[in-house]
Amino acid sequence: MSVTTSKPAASQSAAPPLPGTRADGTARLEIGGKTVELPVIVGSEGERGLDISKLRAQSGAITLDEGFVNTGSTTSAITYLDGENGILRYRGYPIEVLAEKCDFVEVAYLLIYGKLPNPAELDTFRTSLSHHTMIHEDMRNFYTGFPRDAHPMATLGSVVGALSTFYQDSLDVRDPRQVEVSVHRLISKLPTIAAYSHKKSCGQPLMYPRNDLGYCENFLHMMFAVPCEEYHVDPDFADALDMLLIVHADHEQNCSTSTVRMVGSSDANLFASISAGICALWGPLHGGANQACVEMLEKIGADGGNVRKYVDLAKKKDSGFRLMGFGHRVYKNYDPRAKLIKATCDKLLAKIARHDPIFDIAQQLEEVALADEYFIERKLYPNVDFYSGVIYRAMGIPVQMFTVLFAMGRLPGWIAHWIEMHHSPTKKICRPRQIYSGDTLREFVPIDKRP
Ligand code: CMC
Repeated sequence: MSVTTSKPAASQSAAPPLPGTRADGTARLEIGGKTVELPVIVGSEGERGLDISKLRAQSGAITLDEGFVNTGSTTSAITYLDGENGILRYRGYPIEVLAEKCDFVEVAYLLIYGKLPNPAELDTFRTSLSHHTMIHEDMRNFYTGFPRDAHPMATLGSVVGALSTFYQDSLDVRDPRQVEVSVHRLISKLPTIAAYSHKKSCGQPLMYPRNDLGYCENFLHMMFAVPCEEYHVDPDFADALDMLLIVHADHEQNCSTSTVRMVGSSDANLFASISAGICALWGPLHGGANQACVEMLEKIGADGGNVRKYVDLAKKKDSGFRLMGFGHRVYKNYDPRAKLIKATCDKLLAKIARHDPIFDIAQQLEEVALADEYFIERKLYPNVDFYSGVIYRAMGIPVQMFTVLFAMGRLPGWIAHWIEMHHSPTKKICRPRQIYSGDTLREFVPIDKRP
């Protein structure tokens, strides 16, 4: 079998390329004595892909790529990620610019509607969001049913899934107005659902949202206020949280976003699709890494702070230990989000004049790992989860809530992808194939004859 590429010939009549892409000739694959032509597709930033959608029909073969390391599942116009050069852009705008000049609600608008809002559009969006912050009063009863020590990600996934039981008037995936209402409901209600999970875990009364506060201020208010006294949100905490939500807001076809697309491809409603995304995010190899990272740093601290010992341990394959918050499937350079988070971390800790030994350990660990041949060779750098937990700790957010905050940040990205998929002229239910590797036909043995 061999693959070669060539420029388009005048006579070739390929299908028109997908929006935002162009055709660039074909690759020829020789398999079983046959030659199959595979169109080469080029994206707006020059990324090239082979369109194999007709491969099985033409050759009888499929491609195999466990973990989708080398497989594009879709074209997308939302986020551009260049892992070699550490570049991340939402709708063409660099993450550094958005983190400096926008707030999270504005970035959510950008991701979902595809353009930066003008003042009137942003105002209408904010007003609509502030009208949906409460959850149905009966949903509050759910929280009495969950065990006190439930992980808040479990609660979050369940309650978001249950939105489809209470808001049945916005479940039709083909009705743009219903979709928009469910989008606004989700963005407004997620902080309320998240903060209630925390209140439940510490036995405090659930605080109603306050619509006179901004998105992050309102969340911090619901997290930390109690009915018996005044609570003032620290504006620096609100700003730091805003930046964290922005840098988490989208990251193209990651595990949870692909899950949202996969579930949504069956035309499951938006609440159900997002609930599935929350479950995918929970794992420690994905969003759960922020909790796992702080727990690792605490463990290193409790063990005397010997970072070299843990870097060496991470290099031993049979140890089962990895440096959490390190490495990335796509970034083979410093994660631009980690840079922004580390800078905010520095500023926030200086401002509140709090010395956090965990931050020291994180910095020492980074220094030792980045100078180590194992990490250099494999291009393993700190990722978004490495320093975010230090900021959350400084704000007083409990470690179990870290991944919930990741979910709050990622929500507009999930929504944008779900909508983009539904608008795609080539939308199909996601249904990967497999190479069967089990037993061939076996003869059935009755139970009394089995050894
Ligand atoms: N510590 C030690 N070794 C590592 C690490 C790490 N954190 N990450 C990767 N490696 C090694 C791995 O053992 C492998 O070595 P070899 O080539 O000798 O077999 C090589 O680097 C490539 O790793 P991989 O597992 O094949 O890479 P992947 O793209 O499948 O996995 C990852 C990416 C993020 C799951 C992985 O780097 C990891 O487990 N990191 C720790 C968990 C983490 O921080 N996750 C958050 C990711 S960023 C936010 C998000 O996506 O939610």
